[in-house]
Amino acid sequence: MKISIIGTGYVGLVTGACFAEIGHSVTCLDIDSTRIRKLNNASIPFYEPGLERILKKSLEKNQIKFTTNYSLACKNPDAIFVCVGTPSYKSGKPNLKFIKNVIKSLALAINSETVIFLKSTVPVGTTASMERLFKKYLKSKLDIAFASNPEFLKEGSAVNDFKSPDRIIVGTKSKKVQEISKNIFHAFNHQRSRILFTSIESSELIKYAANSFLATKISFMNEIARLADSTSANIDDVRKGMGADPRIGSAFLYSGLGYGGSCFPKDIDGLISSFKDKNLHPSILEAVKTVNSSQHKLYLKKIYDAFSKAKLKNMSIHIWGTSFKPETDDIRDSISIKLIRSLSKDVKKIFIYDPIALKNTKNELIDLQNLVFLRDKYTNIKQSNFLILATEWKEFWDPDIKKLQSLKSKTVIDGRNILNRKHLESSGINYLCIAR
Ligand code: UGA
Repeated sequence: MKISIIGTGYVGLVTGACFAEIGHSVTCLDIDSTRIRKLNNASIPFYEPGLERILKKSLEKNQIKFTTNYSLACKNPDAIFVCVGTPSYKSGKPNLKFIKNVIKSLALAINSETVIFLKSTVPVGTTASMERLFKKYLKSKLDIAFASNPEFLKEGSAVNDFKSPDRIIVGTKSKKVQEISKNIFHAFNHQRSRILFTSIESSELIKYAANSFLATKISFMNEIARLADSTSANIDDVRKGMGADPRIGSAFLYSGLGYGGSCFPKDIDGLISSFKDKNLHPSILEAVKTVNSSQHKLYLKKIYDAFSKAKLKNMSIHIWGTSFKPETDDIRDSISIKLIRSLSKDVKKIFIYDPIALKNTKNELIDLQNLVFLRDKYTNIKQSNFLILATEWKEFWDPDIKKLQSLKSKTVIDGRNILNRKHLESSGINYLCIAR
């Protein structure tokens, strides 16, 4: 089928590349001409495992092309997927300006029947209002359908998530659009159909509710961890015991520094603002947000309890991991970045290491003077007093204990509960964490 994708961020690019790989003829559009030029040479603006390989393959086969030209993207596509960002206003409300611009541009360029799927995360009612906006600008009487198709891929495993979806949600009541959707997603429904057709509004809400529920699981565990920490309960055992109940499930029960990234914080804010728009009070969501925004402060408190502010002033420290989670170079709303900003005021120097995200980190923290970025995680470890592990990259799970023993204060703060406590402590290392 002929498919156009508008927006070449994480969602758009992964969608386009995966559709091209299964044989659809894909045109990806973005208004950023530098990005498009690079993409035509298979140069991807972010790190996502597996994406470059399938993109190169599809470019070689001429299965995918990149353009800034709406006339090209609107040349008889069977479907158009809108995948542009919905950043938040200060109030938390999603800013729909990029989607509105896309809808106007599509209305002015489209000259054949097609279906427009909104993949961007949008508040309930947005797809319907975009359809109204579209009709205002459309000059012809063409029958253009609108549908909602939220995306559930996770950064770091986006390609696999797209190719092996748990579910494909399509918000539409139109039988014709349902048939087109089945054809588009045919290759991902081999063993069983994963498509769930709902109303447009339910589809829009499923995305917000799913992300907010996952964030709720994390904040719930982080709250339980606070009680466990002030008793002798072990949060790892509590997690295993709870997760063994299939009604609870074992995923997303890991307590630590809290959640970050470009989705959970933004989507919680977006959902809260939708409640407020309807004069409803989102008690649970507010609590999820409060727990998450205070979680890293518990770790800071452990540090200030262990070392006085006066002593910290003369200390250097190591921080491992700046991306919001492993297998990505994305540092948006990363808790590690929050920690660095906060500690940079109180310590002499921070040595920072991340396997992939250093370039983005340097750009983000350009205003801080006392940071040193490392190519190797152990460089200058002897000059540091303690180490904070902030992101659970695989290469941090089994550190070289001898090297950690050379930390001046022999202290390791594990922000992700992944290190072997017994092993570290029996090697004379002071291990700080929450609730283990
Ligand atoms: C999230 C959802 O998981 C995807 O389904 C969704 O499509 C995506 O948002 C989106 O809206 O586009 P993502 O932001 O890539 O995906 O990251 P997650 O893997 O969900 O992790 C989010 C944060 O939660 C990370 O900071 C992670 O470290 C933290 N986390 C996760 C925990 O603290 N504990 C856990 O048990 C799990």
